[in-house]
Amino acid sequence: MSIDHTLTSQERLADLDLDQLRRLVGLVEYDHEGDPFPVTGWDAVVWAVGNATQTALHYQLVFGMELVAYSGPETGNRDHQAYVLRSGAVRFVFQGGVDPASPLLDHHRRHGDGVVDIALEVPDVDRCIAHARAQGATILVEPHDVVDEHGTVRTAALATYGETRHTVVDRSRYTGPYLPGYVARTADHAGPEGRPERLFQALDHVVGNVELGRMDEWVDFYNRIMGFTNMAEFVGEDIATEYSALMSKVVASGNHRVKFPLNEPAAGRRRSQIDEYLDFYGGPGAQHLALATDDILRTVDVLRARGIRFLPTPASYYDDPALRARIGEVRVPIEELRSRGILVDRDEDGYLLQIFTKPLGDRPTVFFELIERHGSLGFGKGNFKALFEAIEREQARRGNF
Ligand SMILES: [Fe+2]
Repeated sequence: MSIDHTLTSQERLADLDLDQLRRLVGLVEYDHEGDPFPVTGWDAVVWAVGNATQTALHYQLVFGMELVAYSGPETGNRDHQAYVLRSGAVRFVFQGGVDPASPLLDHHRRHGDGVVDIALEVPDVDRCIAHARAQGATILVEPHDVVDEHGTVRTAALATYGETRHTVVDRSRYTGPYLPGYVARTADHAGPEGRPERLFQALDHVVGNVELGRMDEWVDFYNRIMGFTNMAEFVGEDIATEYSALMSKVVASGNHRVKFPLNEPAAGRRRSQIDEYLDFYGGPGAQHLALATDDILRTVDVLRARGIRFLPTPASYYDDPALRARIGEVRVPIEELRSRGILVDRDEDGYLLQIFTKPLGDRPTVFFELIERHGSLGFGKGNFKALFEAIEREQARRGNF
């Protein structure tokens, strides 16, 4: 069996090694020779936002990300401004329309701030697209080279749920800061200590909310078109509260670097959080991004001090004797978790700590999870009920429950 030990260019830049990644995001070894759509890892998450200039500053000052590249009118791009930020191996690109006729502005009118592209680094763009096409995928951008003084990037894009896409990128022959068309750019301000602080290291998973009754079609899409395999499966009762329910299945790339849980609403007595998302995003889209950290306590303390709001966890969660019995020993006293509202889950492989923010923008749509894994390859199944009850209280406060 040949084992893939390749790091993405972002992971190398972040000085992450395979052991750290295994701990942070639960990598597994696999045979990439037999993979019809080999994926090295995440390339970038591209967002369409109402004001990229201010959003980029927000992610630097609040989330501690580092500005590394820029594209806009000054660089010959008259359509939009785009800011490329990174934290560890995580790369976010924030795009906002400049030209009143920019398609980005139409996208933003329909969906609000959200993820337009979950881009993946691959070793062979043509092989991936040939396979995807043969399996019936919608190819949005044909494989082509883009070139500048830093080298050549080969890239293409295929459609996934809603108006979301997966760009695939081979950057093995490229040394520039992001892509041709972008120039290197650093912050105009001095950070707190003059250096970015890396509050999160890697992207763990990106969850997609899809249409009622279509989750299995999208699982099949990732199986057939992108060669992803099924991980844990959660259905019905697992994620039901007294009032609402959802169904969720998880697919992953061969090495588990890229994990996509897919949710659909399920019938309940009231509207679920997935229904609320679909109404306000205007269809399927990325629901949450899980950011892996090796010190969730510090990350939560820093973000909370800067005004990020997290979903409150009911005090009863920590008093529940069943929880204490279920989670066993974790690295910090439970009081440290309680004071921050951090959730714990344990399975046969280990445990994980997690917490969820409130929606990031004006619409009740995309949000973040922070996750610190200690062996567990799961997604916090044991926390779903406690968590969804907290989400429903928030939905009720917004008048959407
Ligand atoms: Fe998650």
